[in-house]
Formats: sequence, structure tokens, C-alpha cells
Amino acid sequence: MAIEFSERVRRIPVYPAADAYAVPDDVAMMASNETPDPPLPQVMDAITRALPTLNRYPDPSNSRLRQALSGRYGVPAQRIAIGNGSVDILMAAGEALLEPGAELVYAWPSFSVYPHLSAASGATEIRVPLDAEERHDLPAMAREITVATRLVIVCNPNNPTSTALPLDDIAAFVADVPRHVAVILDEAYCEFSTLDDPDASLDLLTRHPNLVLLRTFSKVYGLCGLRVGFALCGSEDFVRAVNQVRQPFFCNSAAQAAATEALRHQDAVAERVERAVIARVELEEELRAMGIEPAESQANFAWFDLPVPEGEEPGEIEAAVVRGLAERGVIVRAGGALGKAGALRVTYGTPAQNRRFLDALRDLI
Ligand SMILES: Cc1ncc(COP(=O)(O)O)c(C=O)c1O
Repeated sequence: MAIEFSERVRRIPVYPAADAYAVPDDVAMMASNETPDPPLPQVMDAITRALPTLNRYPDPSNSRLRQALSGRYGVPAQRIAIGNGSVDILMAAGEALLEPGAELVYAWPSFSVYPHLSAASGATEIRVPLDAEERHDLPAMAREITVATRLVIVCNPNNPTSTALPLDDIAAFVADVPRHVAVILDEAYCEFSTLDDPDASLDLLTRHPNLVLLRTFSKVYGLCGLRVGFALCGSEDFVRAVNQVRQPFFCNSAAQAAATEALRHQDAVAERVERAVIARVELEEELRAMGIEPAESQANFAWFDLPVPEGEEPGEIEAAVVRGLAERGVIVRAGGALGKAGALRVTYGTPAQNRRFLDALRDLI
């Protein structure tokens, strides 16, 4: 007889992980919105220096890292939460805020972890479709907020569609949300956006104690293998609640050391952003030359609908192109698993990887 699992486990959707981990080195990994550059030597040295202390538990209060973040972002350390990746903070927020009868509002398609929060807690989710330009429809989201709403998530720039809204729109939306409703502004990709200064949203925290800016060392800081995320919060209450529902040692010593060191190298961050913006322009131009109209990206990846010949199914075209690209050594994400069949999400790689992807796609369509 098979093990009988809880109703909760039957409800939780399985995360659509990319299946490209046992691939040869020469494959272009363009599926997970990672940075193509290896960690900085100074970051690797910081990890090495942390190794002799691995017989000890990590600092449960992540004090050095929180101090360093406080120095960099000007938010008091008591209002900074750390996570084993920012997903850890998201899931903890779901546990701390949601329960049956409560409501969660988010846009769709958006980050595939958000549905987990409602499924795990038994809360009701309200998915608000993106607008015609595949951006958050904030007025429509505002209309969905009721007395039962506990959490609203806005992903800016949005994964998987790469689009972003200007901060003025976000600020007006946050100002309209009642104070007892938590707003998580998921800014995993904010450094790549040229719409606003990525630090400009920090100012909102001074006016909105219910706001949380969710950020990560996984993307522009290039440390996703170590799993470190952080939340800059409008109040200490959020930090306390997400810490209360988690195990005490959620961020390991090597990760704390690496993230603290990485913060010192803002010049490297700026260089990565510059390379991403160059890749963005190149990919967009070349995709348009192939007759493909990508969404207006403000992130480190492109999102676009594949051309679908008359009488054919978008899902089948998508599967054939993803397979064809993989055969040519390029791994990308199929849109179907992310909320839109017939679309592709392609992370910018090195210039050589970008060229390889473009040549392979041209071959296939
Ligand atoms: C929108 C968004 N938020 C959060 C994350 C989670 O990042 P991590 O848990 O690695 O910090 C991702 C990762 O892809 C993402 O796309």
C-alpha cells in the first residue's frame, strides 16, 4: 500500500524546475535567469575563509550580513530579513500571513512559486491577468483587494514576462492598499531595469510599514548556488513573523560570508548590468529581424511568443523548438510550464551563448 500524504501535499503544485543539471559543460544554460559569470575571486576567498568554522552552526541572526545590507541600502538591520534564497522568505510569508479564509492576490503569469503559497496554506488565491503588454494590471489588482486579503504580491520586473512598471505606478498602488494588508514587491531582477534607479523603491518603506521589498543574491550578485535572499521591510513585525515560522539556521555560514563580501563589489554589479543591457539590445534586434516581437524586457532574460503556423498548436510548436534548441546545446524555458503555451523564456548568456541561441533559433523557425 502507498503512503497516504496530507491533503496539503496533494494541493501544492510541483515547482517547474529546469531539467538541465546533468548536461555537458559546453551546453548554454539559458533557462534559469542566472548570471553567466563565475563568482568573483574575493567572494570565493570569503567562502574559503568560512570553511574552518563549519563545525559550528551559522550565526542565526545573520548579523554581519544584515549590518552590511543595512549599510548598503540604508534600512535598519532590525527591518531586514534573510532567507535561504528569497523563495524561503516568500514561503515563510505565506505561512505567517495566510490561512483558510484569507486571500492572496497576484498577477498571472508571474513567478511560479506564488501558487505554492495559497496551496500550502489553504488560502484563496486571486490571479489577475497581465495587461496587453504582459505587465501587471495594477488597477485590476487593486479591485481584487477585499476585507479578506492578507497578502498582495507584485513582481517588478515580472518573471516570466520580463516586463516592468515604473515606480510611480507601483507607489500609487501601494498607497491604495489598506495598511493591514502586506504587500511584497518582488524585486529579484530590479538591478537590471533601466526604468528607475533600483534604489528608488527604498523610499517607499519610510511611508508604508506594510511593504516588503524582496531581493536576492541569486541574480545580479550571481550566487544562486549558495541560496541567499533578503527582504527590506517597512516594519520589524514582518521580520519577526517570518523568522518565527522557520528553522533557526536557514542561512549557512558560507552563504552569509559570500553575500557579505559580494555586497562590497558594486562595481561588478554595475558591469553585469551593463552586459545584460547590451545582450538585451542585441537579442531584441535579432529576434525582431526573425519576425518575433519580444516583450519589453527590463530583466536579464527575454520573453516572446513563437510564430505559430496556421492550424498548429502553440504548445506543440513550443515543445518542438525547446527540443530543437536542446539538440543544438541551448537550454531555455518553455512558456507552457510558466503560464503561457507557445512562449519561450531565454536568459541572457555570454555573448557566445547568445549567438549560439540566435543561430539555433533561426535554424528552427
Ligand atoms: C521573481 C522571482 N523571485 C524570486 C526568485 C527566487 O530567487 P532565490 O530564491 O534564488 O532568491 C526568483 C528566481 O527565479 C524569481 O524569478
